[in-house]
Amino acid sequence: MPDATMGVYNIEDLRTSAQRRLPKGVFEFVDRGSEDEVALRNNRAAFERIKLSPRPLVDVSRRSQAIELFGHSLKMPIAIAPTGTAGLMWYQGELELARAAAAAGIPFTLATGSMTAMEKIAEQAPGRLWFQLYMWPDRSMSHKLVERARLAGFEALVVTVDGVVSGNREYNLRNGFTVPFSYSRRNIVDVMRHPRWMVGVLGRYMLGNGMPRYENYPLELKNKITAAPMGKSMMRNDSLNWDDLRMLRKIWPHTLIVKGIMHPRDALQAAACGADAIVVSNHGGRNFDSLAAPIDVLPHVADAVGNRLAVLMDSGVRRGSDVVKALALGAKAVMIGRPTLYGTAVGGEAGAARAIGIFREEIDRALAHLGCAGTSELDRSCLASQLDSAAVHPLNSAPDIQERQ
Ligand SMILES: Cc1cc2nc3c(=O)[nH]c(=O)nc-3n(C[C@H](O)[C@H](O)[C@H](O)COP(=O)(O)O)c2cc1C
Repeated sequence: MPDATMGVYNIEDLRTSAQRRLPKGVFEFVDRGSEDEVALRNNRAAFERIKLSPRPLVDVSRRSQAIELFGHSLKMPIAIAPTGTAGLMWYQGELELARAAAAAGIPFTLATGSMTAMEKIAEQAPGRLWFQLYMWPDRSMSHKLVERARLAGFEALVVTVDGVVSGNREYNLRNGFTVPFSYSRRNIVDVMRHPRWMVGVLGRYMLGNGMPRYENYPLELKNKITAAPMGKSMMRNDSLNWDDLRMLRKIWPHTLIVKGIMHPRDALQAAACGADAIVVSNHGGRNFDSLAAPIDVLPHVADAVGNRLAVLMDSGVRRGSDVVKALALGAKAVMIGRPTLYGTAVGGEAGAARAIGIFREEIDRALAHLGCAGTSELDRSCLASQLDSAAVHPLNSAPDIQERQ
């Protein structure tokens, strides 16, 4: 009987296992951040700094982590973040990951730059499907893509706004892992040292339709990932502005989510433009190394927007307790990027399901310790930092404090 744990017990185990399987260039493309990786490390450190306060002697024998989001019930407070590279983790990795998400009852977000056509995902992995949009300078191309997503039945549009310019990722240049991908002695040796990936992923593509392509790009841009650059000017994103968001609101009839908001001012502006939700995100530390950790920014954003729109967050979520911390600080749900990519690299759909399953178990455990039967009970009173010192030490109360002043 196959081992349901796959021999991995947490997301870090999956990461280590993915590192063994993937060529170095591919692994680093997924795993690393930008420049000195300060933001990447701080995304984790910020979660680790937050301490929770247990609440025993509450009957939590019937626990549920289900949530309501945009009028739908989700089995967990998690959505799969858009990542253009699931198709390099496993043969048709995007389909595998989307199927795992559907089976777990959580949304899957397909990235503009993914290697599987959105229609194929909708047909072969029906579930809660969101489409992530990068805008091109030629807005009409982007608007056609939005229409295509609508016709394919996607229920939410996630507009990413933090890719104004691409992140400075020096290791990709060193590894020769650029987009489009180019062959060098170094990366050919790297691939040959990972025969399982060479045969099981690259080989299967080559035996099928050849090198994967950006299947959601319009014909003018649809290139193999190894093809010559499609003209940098066509890919520029630095003219994106609030008018674009207003226009998207007009043409997209379903849920509109803005991903990459890091300031209460911009969250309010997104609400004013008609967005239904924002994702507080620093793109997993991949784009600009000087940004704060989203989990630190989250409570300020959540306080500012109140009920105007739903607040989601991502970047650095690696444990179920991180999910719980984000919900306690005002997020409706979190997105996860790398954890399910590692899972997909290790075992396709089963590996992605294992990553989601690890989160499920850990969220459940955290809820139990906090004395919460459901996620709606999570709020700032769950944080150790909210402890009222007078309540804990009744003798050490106000008069004493006044004396010291
Ligand atoms: C390999 C990789 C590719 C990504 N591609 C996209 C993308 O195409 N569009 C996008 O909006 N975000 C993209 N992201 C960012 C994720 O959606 C998400 O914000 C981030 O991964 C969250 O951080 P985490 O990986 O620590 O969970 C990518 C992230 C990774 C790791």
